[in-house]
Amino acid sequence: MGPNDVPETLKGQKYPAKAHMQRVRDILLEKRGDLKSEDAAVFIAGEEVEGWKYCDTDRDFRQNRYFYYLSGCDIPGSALLYNFKKDKLCLFLPNIDWDDVIWSGMPQSLEEVAKMCDVDEVFHMKQLDEVLNEQLEDISNFKIFTTDLDNVHNDKLKSNLIPGDKDFFFALDEARLIKDWYELEVLRNAARITDKCHLAVMSALPIELNEIQIEAEFSYHALRQGARSLGYDPICCSGPACGTLHYIKNSEDLAGKSSILIDAGAEWKQYTSDVTRCFPINGKFTKEHRAIYEAVLDMQSQAMEQIKPGASWDDLHILTHKVLIKHLLKLGIFKKEFSEEEIFERRVTCAFYPHGLGHVMGLDVHDTAGRPNYEDPDPYFKFLRLRRKLEKNMVITNEPGCYFNEFLIEEFLKKFPERVEVVDQEVLKKYMYVGGVRIEDDIIVTETGYENMTGITSDPDEIEKIVSQGLAKKRSEFHALV
Ligand code: GLY
Ligand code: MN
Ligand code: MN
Repeated sequence: MGPNDVPETLKGQKYPAKAHMQRVRDILLEKRGDLKSEDAAVFIAGEEVEGWKYCDTDRDFRQNRYFYYLSGCDIPGSALLYNFKKDKLCLFLPNIDWDDVIWSGMPQSLEEVAKMCDVDEVFHMKQLDEVLNEQLEDISNFKIFTTDLDNVHNDKLKSNLIPGDKDFFFALDEARLIKDWYELEVLRNAARITDKCHLAVMSALPIELNEIQIEAEFSYHALRQGARSLGYDPICCSGPACGTLHYIKNSEDLAGKSSILIDAGAEWKQYTSDVTRCFPINGKFTKEHRAIYEAVLDMQSQAMEQIKPGASWDDLHILTHKVLIKHLLKLGIFKKEFSEEEIFERRVTCAFYPHGLGHVMGLDVHDTAGRPNYEDPDPYFKFLRLRRKLEKNMVITNEPGCYFNEFLIEEFLKKFPERVEVVDQEVLKKYMYVGGVRIEDDIIVTETGYENMTGITSDPDEIEKIVSQGLAKKRSEFHALV
């Protein structure tokens, strides 16, 4: 696909902002029995461009996700107003700054924006007072919910806004949890772009001599496909660094290592993907790398088969720990004299798999309403970002892992005598160079099961083939000039 192409299903379709607003309204009214729809409104000011200190260049712009969800508008300095009673959603764009037009050209017109965003009317900011008066008549009778007061420049309005209301955030977050068809199509496209980026990275070892060149390859292919940003800082690691969960240094040479882990996702139309793949640097998994890879693939596959509405994510997460126990016993990393039940009770696998099985994903990589409990005293659940039953049209990641990291071993193993005695240290030593393996796919929960949006292969034989075919090419066959 070219950088401006959109999938057939999205052609001519507007971002469903009004439907999102109505969902938020309904959830809020249900939660707050005391709130009358005659008295309620929403006003949110979007993000503005921020400059760097002591300099006339700007920081990368990222739209407020709540604002985007309710407007579909990624223009800096915009705002929205929704009146519950009139069921009218108004979008305000910044006034035209003619001095800026000299440098930047004409901004998008009201009509152009109205064609892309499903709102009732689009205005310029200079019309805000007039529309407020007409829409809210006597403002003081209204409860006007907002996320925060940042970027609200109208004093009268500001003094009438209710920022940070818990029930309002609850309604926003719950609405964002369940994706509609439009969001699913955007997410599918982000996933398609990401597939190609991962394939490119796996195929380009001759020009990837350092972790930053893995990042460069991924970003280059995302940009070429029209994804102007990534959903999060890409994690590109080699060798023992594969054991650092959110490693973003991305600066080490690959020479002398055998494993690569890349966790990166393209963002398209503000929605992200989040995919991890692991592969051998020389095209052939070592014995230890392959054994861990197969263990993690088994964890992921067994969890995948259980994904459907009503399934408890806690249960699936626990299932993956149980699968890992079986594999680590088979490999001799766990001593045979301990039973699977005993090892499970002692929480030994938390030293090798400390994070959760997955999380909700959408406008943010770790999206809203997963209801994590980071205070949970049980290490199995402390870092699990999704603590609820699955529902149709939730979008989640399925991303088990197994890591060999000195810090994790110190923190979660050596400090606990009942855990450390389960592990055969001599066998464990043989796996440290692998660093770690994570396999991460992006999933839609469907009516009866799941749809895996991620298409890039995770089959270890196919991965070896892709890497080897890439290695067989000369550097000059790639685009790299340096
Ligand atoms: N890339 C962060 C995560 O997988 O959650
Ligand atoms: Mn993830
Ligand atoms: Mn990830």
